Amino acid sequence: MSDTTTLGAQVDELRRLIRRHEYLYYVLDRPEITDAEFDRLFQRLLRIEQAHPELITADSPTQRVGGRPVEGFASVQHKAAMLSLDNAYSADELVEFEARIKRALPDERIAYVIEPKVDGLGVALLYEHGRFVRGATRGDGRYGEDVTQNLMTVRSLPHRLHGSFTTYAALEVRGEVFMWRQAFDRLNRGLEADGDEPFANPRNAAAGSVRQKDSRITASRPLDIFIYGVSYAEPDPFTDHWRAMEQLLEAGFLLDPKDRKTTLERYRRRCAGIEDAVAVCREIEAARDEIGCDCDGVVVKVDAIEQQRRLGSTTHHPRWAIAYKFPARQATSAIRKIDISVGRTGALTPTALLDPVEIAGATISRATLHNADEIERLDIREGDTVLVERAGDVIPHILRVIHERRPAHSTPFRFPTRCPVCGADAFRPEGEVVSRCTNSACLARLKESLLHFGSRRAMDIEHLGEAVVEQLVDRALVREFADLYRMNVETLAGLERLAQKSATNLYHAIQGSKGRGLSRLLFALGLRYVGEHVAAIVARHYGSMDRLEQALEAELAEIYGIGPRIAQSVALYFRQPENRRQIERLREVGVAMEEAGVSAAPRPLAGKAFVLTGGLETLTRDEAKELIAQAGGRVTSSVSSKTDYVVVGKDPGSKFDDATRLGVPTLDEAAFKKLIGRV
Ligand code: IVH
Repeated sequence: MSDTTTLGAQVDELRRLIRRHEYLYYVLDRPEITDAEFDRLFQRLLRIEQAHPELITADSPTQRVGGRPVEGFASVQHKAAMLSLDNAYSADELVEFEARIKRALPDERIAYVIEPKVDGLGVALLYEHGRFVRGATRGDGRYGEDVTQNLMTVRSLPHRLHGSFTTYAALEVRGEVFMWRQAFDRLNRGLEADGDEPFANPRNAAAGSVRQKDSRITASRPLDIFIYGVSYAEPDPFTDHWRAMEQLLEAGFLLDPKDRKTTLERYRRRCAGIEDAVAVCREIEAARDEIGCDCDGVVVKVDAIEQQRRLGSTTHHPRWAIAYKFPARQATSAIRKIDISVGRTGALTPTALLDPVEIAGATISRATLHNADEIERLDIREGDTVLVERAGDVIPHILRVIHERRPAHSTPFRFPTRCPVCGADAFRPEGEVVSRCTNSACLARLKESLLHFGSRRAMDIEHLGEAVVEQLVDRALVREFADLYRMNVETLAGLERLAQKSATNLYHAIQGSKGRGLSRLLFALGLRYVGEHVAAIVARHYGSMDRLEQALEAELAEIYGIGPRIAQSVALYFRQPENRRQIERLREVGVAMEEAGVSAAPRPLAGKAFVLTGGLETLTRDEAKELIAQAGGRVTSSVSSKTDYVVVGKDPGSKFDDATRLGVPTLDEAAFKKLIGRV
């Protein structure tokens, strides 16, 4: 074979690989390789094509950017092509970037803007006369998907721009839709609690949310946007990138202008020369974990728009900008074992135990595997060599298996069908991703429940750590929450590694937690869907465990801030005789069952059903609902013979007529307030 044939074959193979990974990334949202690996493939192809222009074909991935839009969204043409960025991996490469610019613009002063390269989904936002009219994904760079409805739900995306922007016929703003890491973690916890599959990373979560068919789902996702450019303006008022960004932020892209310091904007800087720019890149790199969202690098841009124009672009990237990529935080390691732990809700969670490996300064020996589906999806097996990523403060996870290094005779991992701790059946409901141990008395679940019970935001029992809980359960000293309060100093001092003094401290910490109040107790009991916030609402509403135990599901669902799913879970919990007995025993050992500050007085409207119609003058509808709920009543949406009162405000609707027709008593605002004791 001649050299060009082998080169030709190489180029074909590179193109095939690049297309496949573009498809996985852009269309399926399921990348199998890292961005850095993708960049390397791309750069290899680019270099060969540069050296052998005769090999370039019109359909080569280097001649266009990105992947095809998915079916289902209308296709829209961008005002200007959405290009990619050239990459630099070292300070030297940034200096080379400047040298290229200086050659094209000799003797000119070049100022730069440095900004984070946010890892999310690139979008183009079209404004006409200051009004947001269209939002699109990047698609293939020229045509994108119309995701206007979905982008409308992103809170920090202004539907109208203020000031002079209302006079521009057309303005296309570019930005990255992304998720803050904390919001992402919260979202995934919620998805998991609902038995849904969590997202692998914030980028996938953002991309998946923007490309949702149902914009109500997008609206429920914690999306944010970071703007990084203007690609088209008619007329064009901008002289430099820095000012353009400032003006756009002022015109509406920054929710609260006083909030600047807490947003990504604090990492946007202007520098007079490349040396300063390199220093800023390093500074931002060092602050990588504090940024709060995934950034895979920083972008260095020539500030003056006029210089940008003269520098122009290749088909792939502008010559006036470059992405300085942070070093990958990935490494390969071998899986020694796949460990299954049992959580407090019985969820079986797999973790990969790895040969220790250092990634960006930390020794990693475990990685989360999420659930059985994830293991199956990536075909992860014990003994496999895998690519591990450590992204910010997120628990390390596995990106893919390196199949070439799979040991001979390896067998697919079989997810257990029984609880690895108690041996009871594990059950995975249809359509859910999580398998759970079905034994409510499983000791692994008990240990986790006790740890949660004593945790800082629950009953706050200091010194009740893992080692202690482990022994209390293994020695059969504790079988339920109330047993904790039955421990005396002597028993505690009998535990290993617990000196007399520590045992005394622990004893006092346990006894001292009795008076934490209903809200913390409810959270500590660990009812499904009852987090701290919900526990506080319920505790404030009912004031005591007695009342809560009597509550009906329909009544709970009427409380402002409590949805039907939570109401059902709480009602279900209190219907179980064993749960009631557990609470009774906590009461016997002296745990307080009341919420401080909430009156225990009898509730005058217990069991009464209300309907509200028309506007009240001194109360909002939510306030009225809350007052009714506090007095023991509930609010329903339509009038029936079961309705006790219809509260009639200004401009009442047809419900007033319904009340008259059915003979249901009506109350005006004054009478209503009298009834609830508010006058
Ligand atoms: S400038 C024509 N600035 O990274 C200039 N892009 O890898 C091209 N990105 O498609 C984009 N943060 O979606 C620019 N501060 C930033 C960015 C940024 C994230 C994304 C963008 C782009 C991709 C290129």
